[in-house]
Amino acid sequence: MTPIFVTSSGTDIGKTYVSAMLTRELRAYAIKPVVSGFNDKTFPDSDTAHLLAAMGEPVTMDHAARVSRWRFKAALSPDMAAAREGAFISFDDLIAECVAASHAHDPLIIEGVGGLMVPLDETHTVLDWMQELNIHIGISPLLVVGSYLGTISHTLTTLDVMQRNGLGPRVIVVSESENAPVPLEETMSVMARFSGNVPLRALPRDGRIRLEEFFHDKN
Ligand SMILES: Nc1ncnc2c1ncn2[C@@H]1O[C@H](COP(=O)(O)OP(=O)(O)OP(=O)(O)O)[C@@H](O)[C@H]1O
Ligand SMILES: [Mg+2]
Repeated sequence: MTPIFVTSSGTDIGKTYVSAMLTRELRAYAIKPVVSGFNDKTFPDSDTAHLLAAMGEPVTMDHAARVSRWRFKAALSPDMAAAREGAFISFDDLIAECVAASHAHDPLIIEGVGGLMVPLDETHTVLDWMQELNIHIGISPLLVVGSYLGTISHTLTTLDVMQRNGLGPRVIVVSESENAPVPLEETMSVMARFSGNVPLRALPRDGRIRLEEFFHDKN
């Protein structure tokens, strides 16, 4: 199965929630190679810990290092968080890490970091990461968006950039935001008018959806 890359229109939208759900559903291996805002105290509630739990793996620091090789303390974009520690993310190593994971695990879910165009270093964004991986191993992009005020423009902008770069998502998951100003269905129906033929799936608060069908075909 082609590795699934979970990206988003921003941070704190639902990538981990969806990645963990999909990991359980597909009995997949999941990685989140780059994580910021990570420290010993916050570890149990980190993306890394949620993914380990979804895989049924022990939630320990040893295992964390395998799921998230680049971990930074500051809750900032990865380039800034790394710089605070005098570190940097080697783009080539990041690609090599994901390629190796794809050889070792099938199905594989890769959670990106932040939104689609968050910088990873001086010259690369998550979009570059996805493009490079797509060249090396091929990826199935999954776009997770919210239902907060402003999401329609954020979603359509992200979608447009993905499609222009050959990374059109298999499916867009609209994860209901806390305090969304309108019902999820209303946001969905407006998005659907502008999102062409990309399927949209509603994910209510604390809800579940089956996504398997989007990733088992066309491989
Ligand atoms: N559909 C949902 N139902 C309930 N809670 C949700 C849902 N979607 C997201 N959340 C919650 O919202 C918070 C942010 O979601 P999540 O951690 O998945 O975002 P993210 O996009 O992975 O953020 P980051 O950019 O930090 O990786 C989490 O506490 C998560 O459990
Ligand atoms: Mg996350």
